[in-house]
Order: sequence, then C-alpha cells, then structure tokens
Amino acid sequence: MSTNKRPEVMKGARKGALKRLFMMIMKDYPGYFFLVTFAIMVVAFAGVANSFFVGNILIDEFIQPSLDALEAGLTTNAYTYMLNNVTSTTFGIGFVPSLMVLGGIFIIGILASYTYNFFMAYIAQGIQKEIRDNLFDHMQNLPVSYFDQHTHGDVMSVYTNDVDSLREMLARSIPMMTSSIVTMFAAFVIMLFTDFYLAIVVLLVGVLMFFLTKFFASRSGRHFIKMQMELGRTNGYIEEMISGQKVVKVFNYEKKNVEEFKKHNEELFTQSVQANRYANILMPAVNQLGNLQYALIALIGGLFVINGVKGLGFSDLLSGHIYSMGLITSFLLYSKSFTQPIGQMAMQLNTVTMALAGASRIFAMTDEPVEIDEGYVELVNAREDENGNPVEVSEHTGKWAWKHPHTDGSQTTYTWLKGKINVNGVDFGYVPNKIVLHDITVYAEPGQKIAFVGPTGAGKTTITNLLNRFYDIADGKIRYDDININKIKKADLRRSLGMVFQDTKLFTGTVMENIRYGKLDASDEEVYKAAKLANADTFIQQLPEGYNTVLKNGGASLSQGQRQLLAIARAAIANPPVLILDEATSSIDSRTEAMVTKGMDAIMEGRTVFVIAHRLSTIKNSDVIMVLDHGHIIERGSHDALLAQKGKYYQLYTGNAIKE
Ligand SMILES: Nc1ncnc2c1ncn2[C@@H]1O[C@H](COP(=O)(O)OP(=O)(O)OP(=O)(O)O)[C@@H](O)[C@H]1O
Ligand SMILES: [Mg+2]
Repeated sequence: MSTNKRPEVMKGARKGALKRLFMMIMKDYPGYFFLVTFAIMVVAFAGVANSFFVGNILIDEFIQPSLDALEAGLTTNAYTYMLNNVTSTTFGIGFVPSLMVLGGIFIIGILASYTYNFFMAYIAQGIQKEIRDNLFDHMQNLPVSYFDQHTHGDVMSVYTNDVDSLREMLARSIPMMTSSIVTMFAAFVIMLFTDFYLAIVVLLVGVLMFFLTKFFASRSGRHFIKMQMELGRTNGYIEEMISGQKVVKVFNYEKKNVEEFKKHNEELFTQSVQANRYANILMPAVNQLGNLQYALIALIGGLFVINGVKGLGFSDLLSGHIYSMGLITSFLLYSKSFTQPIGQMAMQLNTVTMALAGASRIFAMTDEPVEIDEGYVELVNAREDENGNPVEVSEHTGKWAWKHPHTDGSQTTYTWLKGKINVNGVDFGYVPNKIVLHDITVYAEPGQKIAFVGPTGAGKTTITNLLNRFYDIADGKIRYDDININKIKKADLRRSLGMVFQDTKLFTGTVMENIRYGKLDASDEEVYKAAKLANADTFIQQLPEGYNTVLKNGGASLSQGQRQLLAIARAAIANPPVLILDEATSSIDSRTEAMVTKGMDAIMEGRTVFVIAHRLSTIKNSDVIMVLDHGHIIERGSHDALLAQKGKYYQLYTGNAIKE
C-alpha cells in the first residue's frame, strides 16, 4: 500500500555530498572549523605527549634512576630520593614540577577536547538549520508535478531522518574520525622515533585490524542503509494509516493492516539485526586484536629488555638504544593510541555511510529543478489618467494593470487587467505520451461565466491547472488579456486568479487566519465581509470561539460544506478579476447553495468566472457551458441551446448525471 520508496544512493553521490557539506562548513564557519581542527590536533598530541611523559620521563628519568640508586646503596628511601635528588634529563626539572607539566598537558587535552566538541556541535546544528531552511525554501518553488511523483512520507523523511543523521555525523562521527586519524598518525610518528622494531609489530596488527574492520563494515553498512530505508517506509505506512484510519475501519481492514505493518516491522527488525550483528562483532574483534597486540609488545619488549637487545629509532638512528621499562611502557600506550581509533572509526563508519546517503537525498531534493518562471509581465496597482489609461502607482487602488517591459528598449507599456481568457488549441498530458486534453479552445470575455461539465476524469480540473500554470501546456496557447500566460510572472498570474479547489485545504490556525490567507493584509472587517459574502458568517458565529476558533488537521472539526464555504470566503477576499471554482458548492446543501450562489453572484459581478459543477443550478445561468468528455470539448453553448441540441448535455441532464 505504501508507495514510499527511498532510493538507494550511489557511492559517487555520497562522495559529492561530503564535498558539498565541507564547502558549506567552510563558507559559513571557516573560523570555527579551523579552531575545531586545531583543537583536534591538540587533543591528539596531548594524548601522545602523555604517553611519552609516562614512559620516557616518569619511568625512565625518575623511577628507574631512583630504583638504581636504591640498589646501589645511594639512598635508603627511593621515594624521597626521587623527590629531592632526581631531575629530568629531558627537561632539567624535578619530579613535582614534571608532574605539574604532565597535569598541564592533561588539562590542555581536556580543554581542547571540550572546545572541539562544543564548536563541532554548534557547526552541526547550524548546518542542520541551514539545510532545513534551504529544503523548505526550495520546496516552496518546486513545481506541482514534483509532488505528484514523490510521496509525502518520502519528502518528510528527508526533513527528519536524513537531516538528523547528517547532524549526528557532523557533530560526532566526523570529529571522532578526524581525531582518530590524527591520533593514529601522531602515535605512529612517535613510535617510529622511539623504536622501529616494536613499531613494525604495532603496524602489522594495525593492518590486520584494518582489514577486519573493512570486512565487517562493508557488510554492516549495506544493512544500515537498508535499515534506514525500511525505517522510512515503515514510518510512511504508519503515517498513511493514521490519515486513512476511517477508511481502514469502514472496510474492516484492521487485520490486513496489522499484517502489512508487521511485514514492514519484521523487515526493519531483520535489517537492524543484520546491521548490528556485524557492527557488534566488530568491536570485540578489534578489541581482542588490541589485547593481542598489547601482549605481543609486552612479551617482545620484555625479551628485548632482558636480553639487552639494541633497538633503533629515528631519535637515535646512529647510536641505537637499549630497551628500558619506560620505553616499553610508553610503547604500550602508543600502541593503544594507534589501535583504539581503528575500532572507533569502524563504529562511526556506519553512521557516516547512512548520513552521507541521507545527505545525497537532501542534495537531490535541493537540486531538483524549481518551477521555471520566464515571465516578465507584471501586475501592478494602477490609477486612471485623464485618457482612461492606466498609470502605475505604489499604493493600493483596487485597480490593476499589466506592466510590459519591452526588450527592444522602447517604453514600458501598461494595459488594464480585464479578465479576458483565451484558450486556443491546447493539448496537455501530465505524463509524456498520455494526452488528457485535446485541442481545447475556450474564449471568455471579461465578466463572462464559463461552466465546465462532464463525467469524472474528463479533464475539467486539468484545464484550471493549466490556467494558473501548475503545469505547462504541450501545444496551443493560453492568453490572459491577450498576453501569452507564459510571459506573465507566475506569482502575478496566480494573484490575478482566485481559486477554490476541488479538495479544500485549510491550515492549522484560526478561522480568521484561514480566510485571510487569500489576502494577507486584509483587515478584520474585510474578513467578515468576505465570510458574509460566502455565507460562511452564520456558521462561524456558532463556532465555540467564533472567528478565533482554531482549526486543526485541515479543519477536521468542520463539515465538508463548511470547509468549502471558508475556501470560497478565502477566494472572495482576494478580490481577483478571474475566479475559478472547482466543485466549490458540491458539498453544500441546496438551500445554503442558493444563498451562496446569491452571494457569489455579487462577487462574480464584473469578473470572469470558470465554474466546474455537477449541479445544474450553479451553471444554468452561465454564458457558455462546455461539455467535456475524455479531454475533448464535445459541446458548447448556453443551457437552453444545449438542451435543445439534445446531445451529451441533454443526456447528462436528463439522465440525472447532473443533479438538479
Ligand atoms: N496529477 C496527475 N498526474 C497524472 N494524471 C492525472 C493527474 N491528475 C489528473 N490526472 C488524469 O487526468 C485526467 C483528467 O483528470 P481531471 O482531474 O482533470 O478530471 P475531472 O474532469 O476534474 O474529474 P472530476 O469530475 O472527477 O473532478 C484523468 O484521467 C486523471 O486520471
Ligand atoms: Mg476535478
């Protein structure tokens, strides 16, 4: 049932996404980014410095000489000897100051760690916010057809799951991985300085870990992506069933529904188990290898110490060194700094894979081409000059004119907005190769009332979708006041058309706000007036809070007819020269309809109106009635003329297809 399909994302797209994220960070937070990078390095070096300090300084330069002194009989108390008599050969300071240096390094490490976590979280939140803004901004400009092709659940999960996993990656995984890499690098460098042989042991185990990680991560990564997609599907299914709960109940679909849900949930479970199984084996396996390495170094190092083997490192390339307890201790710590990050990175790898898949979906949506608007003719406020011609003014006059800038440099011209619509030989299909409208020609003079009738699916709504350019026509021309509508700015074209849709959409907010949607700067008085005109005032007054009643879930607490009345009021308040009413009165009882029609007659006065209705009363007095069938206009004329013609209209009428 759920059609929520979350496409798998190709590797290349993920790489591209990473690059774009990086560019975003560099553009918005270059300072913080460098601070974070610097802090990560400090943390890594502080870690390595600590290891160095513990082995090479504390053990080799303080503890060992003190023990030697004790053995040689120079002192009876190695501890006081160390405190008072030993100075570090590296730093030339005593034991306590050395400890303070160690503490200092430790504190610097903690501060740097706090710094990068804090700022990286900040950057991540910022990027997350920016992405949400971009997504929403971009979504406002996507063509209607985009939403024909993508389910709401699909679009929603980009905002929720994908954006969130992206934040998780930026705030946690990326800094963790960066710090892991830097730490590994630093640890390895200092190991090379200290001793080649032991470094090779660490490196060998490291390589083994790397391949183990790669093996498991590539297996779990696949399942993590599948898990995320299944999560989207499951959520989409739940969403759909919440909104469709009445249908579910009425058709006794509960049991089937639960089964269907269980299938999704089961798949989600399987994928999660698979993903986590590999991920869960990985950590212990890497840890065990780490322990093995520990033991190896202790063993080999110990043997070296005992046998007085001569070692070699970059720090003593020529002279070489003998192995000391301190050196082995330091090395054990270095090796830990080297291998621990491998496990950590392995854990983050899945988050990163998922987040990058999400990021590529985010970018795919923001890259989706927006509605193209090549229009340049604008709608402006105007007043009449002495010759009756329009003159542009900035204040609201209630009169409108089309403003045509001319590309050849000649003067801008103005013509009155009249509301004349000419549709000429229009062909159209929502999808290629499936034409739903054929050679449609409709002329509407200003102030005329044009009605469309015809069976379901004939293409009535489609015609109105073309007038406001929700979709672009394949062939033919539509002219508004003799201007090709392609030349009119979309926003201005739509402003000049008032629409009441077949399916009424109300937003969460008060009744007042919902009506005002038609004209954002309308005063309360204007709202009342529009409501009265649409005959909505009476029922609104009876609502618990009147005009301040808050509507939720698209006005679920109102009757269908009441919702339509609000939609009519919303169209009325905009005061447009052309009105399109798609089944606007289909759910209103005949008595109310008579009143609404009366009210509407008032607002229709002087306006061009397109009415789509199954009810005869609404269209009877139209200037022209167009009978549509399978995308063709098969009859046209006045009510009486069409009846006399005894064609399809007559059939529809007498066959009660059109309700009286
Ligand atoms: N978004 C869309 N994508 C693809 N095809 C569509 C879309 N909307 C409508 N159609 C198809 O276009 C044809 C005309 O639909 P349209 O909505 O214009 O019919 P209608 O005359 O308004 O019917 P009704 O009286 O039921 O409202 C139908 O065959 C329909 O399946
Ligand atoms: Mg329709």
